Amino acid sequence: MTNRILVSGGAGFLGSHLCERLLNEDHEVICFDNFGSGQLDNISGYKDHPKFTINDRDIRLSGSLPPVDRIYHLASRASPADFTDFPVDIALTNTQGTRRLLDHARACDARMVFASTSEVYGNPKVHPQPETYTGNVDIRGIRGCYDESKRFGETLTVAYQRNYDMDVRTIRIFNTYGPRMRPNDGRVVPTFVTQALRGEDLTIYGDGEQTRSFCYVDDLIEGLVSVMRAEDPEYDVYNIGKENELTINELAEEVLQLTDTDSNIIYKPLPEDDPNQRRPDVTRAKAELNWNPRVPLHDGLKQTIDYYKISHQIGD
Ligand SMILES: NC(=O)c1ccc[n+]([C@@H]2O[C@H](COP(=O)([O-])OP(=O)(O)OC[C@H]3O[C@@H](n4cnc5c(N)ncnc54)[C@H](O)[C@@H]3O)[C@@H](O)[C@H]2O)c1
Repeated sequence: MTNRILVSGGAGFLGSHLCERLLNEDHEVICFDNFGSGQLDNISGYKDHPKFTINDRDIRLSGSLPPVDRIYHLASRASPADFTDFPVDIALTNTQGTRRLLDHARACDARMVFASTSEVYGNPKVHPQPETYTGNVDIRGIRGCYDESKRFGETLTVAYQRNYDMDVRTIRIFNTYGPRMRPNDGRVVPTFVTQALRGEDLTIYGDGEQTRSFCYVDDLIEGLVSVMRAEDPEYDVYNIGKENELTINELAEEVLQLTDTDSNIIYKPLPEDDPNQRRPDVTRAKAELNWNPRVPLHDGLKQTIDYYKISHQIGD
């Protein structure tokens, strides 16, 4: 069955890959993006597709939205670099924007998936993090605008579900990387890759022993679509991410090897609130959705490096 689908944040990194995947499955895709961190280049491959519409609009603002039967709500800046510069935008996109889309889903009787984040676990005291872990977030910290607004976005989805008997699901996304992240995005993979390709030293904040688990974008999109597609799923919230926890030092070494550069590593002080450890417990998604991330870090990084070389002419 094909659907009429609204994607908020569809010109961003994940949103653009999602739109492409949905168009390939012959769905009609209506994308809303304010191009804050989204890029026209991300959607250039299919912007003229007869089943694709792009609307340059902020989802926090009122205005009519088209009738649809599915909504993916991905709008929100997600780079820690933006938490300092755009805290109000971020906080309101995940709360006021989420409310607008929930109201719209209710009006259309549409199924909705809200893109939440592993940041709802904050600096976790439970490791790895299952969906049942309630988290350890500093609500007044520099990351609070993002972490806490995603938490409230989730609270709102559950409230709408209970109050109005709606079908709203949440996916908690763990660090995802791949082509179409902005080179100056501030997140660690594009930063390391573009530094290495330019022959600059790689910047590590702290001692580099903090861990993250990196999922390649294709695996993430498969998980996202699986959460939407599931009929009567047992749960309404799923962690989606890869369990291959590694230190930031190890990630830097892998990037240095793959880019064959003379760059070194330099260390700078750790920013406030930076989580020490991050690894998803994805038992739920694997068992119920039959989802399994497949792309090894080595292969995903190679694809990402090629993207920056070819699309942004960085390096070579
Ligand atoms: N990439 C990751 O590792 C990751 C991890 C956890 C959660 N997420 C979540 O996934 C979603 C997509 O993240 P991404 O990595 O693609 O980031 P991104 O910055 O590339 O994409 C976000 C998109 O949302 C748009 N946007 C932001 N605020 C908006 C608003 N008010 N109205 C309309 N459009 C708006 C931006 O212009 C951009 O195109 C976000 O909700 C993010 O919180 C991503």
